[in-house]
Amino acid sequence: MIKSFHTRQLTFRQLEIFRSVADCGSVTDAAKTLHLAQPTVSTQLAKLAQTTQTALFEQVGKKLYLTDAGQELLEASRDLFAVLENLEMRLAKRAGLSFGHLRLSAVTTSKYLVPTWLGSFCRLYPSIEPEFNVGNRAEIIARLRQNLDDFYIFSHPPRELDINAQPITDNPLVLIAPQDHPLANQADLTWSDLRNERFLIREQGSGTRFAIEGFFKEYGAPHLRPLTIASNEAIKESVVAGLGIAIISRHALSHMAPGNLVELQVKELPIKSRWYLVTPQGKVASPAAQAFYEHVNRLLDDIAQ
Ligand code: PGA
Repeated sequence: MIKSFHTRQLTFRQLEIFRSVADCGSVTDAAKTLHLAQPTVSTQLAKLAQTTQTALFEQVGKKLYLTDAGQELLEASRDLFAVLENLEMRLAKRAGLSFGHLRLSAVTTSKYLVPTWLGSFCRLYPSIEPEFNVGNRAEIIARLRQNLDDFYIFSHPPRELDINAQPITDNPLVLIAPQDHPLANQADLTWSDLRNERFLIREQGSGTRFAIEGFFKEYGAPHLRPLTIASNEAIKESVVAGLGIAIISRHALSHMAPGNLVELQVKELPIKSRWYLVTPQGKVASPAAQAFYEHVNRLLDDIAQ
């Protein structure tokens, strides 16, 4: 079986997806963890099973379990990735990356994405000291103005500043309600269907609020009772507890236990936004910053494949 792998299309990406499914025990959870669509994960798994000509998982109830062959593949792929990481580390050392600092600041919605990048980066370059700040849009703009960091992540980069902004990935903002909301399963809702709701919204200075206000400017502000809560986590918990409805990044929902919240289907939603990797114009990248930039772009290329 192994002899013929090279003539077929076994990819590291498939192995990475396979490892994540094995760790999570479910395609849905692995897709969330990897920020991929569920069908992409299923397709890559199916290709891998085809290449290895064996069943890798068996489903018992809702959970996926590794078959004996799957277990073998998991161990082999762990070894493979360890060898590769070790190689990259040695190459990095040759390139003079055996020390250095990386400073990164990100808006709160992206805290569900950035640690994955940072984690894999720090495993590759264990001698680089990372610093990771999380804040709302206004706080991160303040850091950018002071040139405190190598990189900044925004959904709504401050266009008034002289910056480079590389688009990263979509950040849709969705309307959420508790699972048992009476309008939970209705399509094409309008804002007047929701006029009696309390609307939980982030604080002034938040990029999420900035996007919502822009959206209401375009489509007309609905009659909702606003309540400001300065945290995505507290907003989610408050919606679950029945305090109101809210518009929030879909990525902020990825680690919630399923079954607590629903997305309400209002016509113009979700609000489309995306994250950007931002650097001040003219900033000279340190070797650590350059390595991080290349690392992120490699990860993004992998996701795009
Ligand atoms: P924030 O993040 O609401 O925490 O400012 C928003 C963003 O995605 O820009």
